[in-house]
Amino acid sequence: MGRILDGKAVAAELRGRVAVAAGVFASRAGRKAGLEVVLVGEDPASQVYVRNKARACEEAGLRGVVHRLPADTTQGALLELVHGLGARDDVDGILVQLPLPKHLHEDAVLQAVPADKDVDGFHLLNAGALFTGREGLVPCTPTGCMRLLDHAGGDLSGARAVVVGRSNIVGKPMAMLLLARHATVTLAHSRTRDLGLLCATADILIAAVGRAGLVRGDWVRPGAIVIDVGINRDAQGKLVGDVAFDEAAERAAWITPVPGGVGPMTIACLLENTLRAAWRRKGLPPGELTL
Ligand code: GUN
Repeated sequence: MGRILDGKAVAAELRGRVAVAAGVFASRAGRKAGLEVVLVGEDPASQVYVRNKARACEEAGLRGVVHRLPADTTQGALLELVHGLGARDDVDGILVQLPLPKHLHEDAVLQAVPADKDVDGFHLLNAGALFTGREGLVPCTPTGCMRLLDHAGGDLSGARAVVVGRSNIVGKPMAMLLLARHATVTLAHSRTRDLGLLCATADILIAAVGRAGLVRGDWVRPGAIVIDVGINRDAQGKLVGDVAFDEAAERAAWITPVPGGVGPMTIACLLENTLRAAWRRKGLPPGELTL
């Protein structure tokens, strides 16, 4: 039986370190580091996520403000808000919660967030920085996965990593982060042939597809580290990941649960990104930010 990679515990540790550094920032800058979250519409899951993000900010000594806009907000009104936040000196991070209502042009909104305040890491400059190994803001969920892998303590150099899912938010940046740590990365997806056989070769298996129970026990190589990014509802309405947990846990060395695995890490890494953005914007010495 594999060991549980407890995202709640690892995230709590990271949040504690962010809180200490946030105190240092506030005393040097004369104000708190600040995140502004923009939510358009009434999506119930998004409402919960946004509330949790703002609360986590306040608990860590950051300012967390939510802007709630009606579902029929125009593209112009949304861009005006984002541009206004972009121009404010006391705003260090801006996050536009996805998905946006269908009539809005998501990409245009995301690119309107200044790259140095883009705590989601979705701006093309940040995506390009990650692709080319430069300094930038990195998406929160894959960063959280990397921190969980480090907690498990496996040597990533030369390891065979299989990432299932090729989204811009998780799969692609995840592949880049693993590659930067010298893993041999295969980026697989729904059309990959013999997906189960491929997964069974992985020392590190990242499931980020959004299909409940896709990864079966026999897809897991004995001794592998399994990170489950999926958040799905099963037929009974229970929250489940992309991995058939009980089967996979029999073979994995380490495995993340859902809930309580990657989810809490995403929020902790958002706080970390906000503080990093604030630190850089204020021109404080990078070496003195220890997280
Ligand atoms: N919706 C689901 N995940 C995310 C995320 O990482 N960032 C934003 N902005 N919205 C999301």
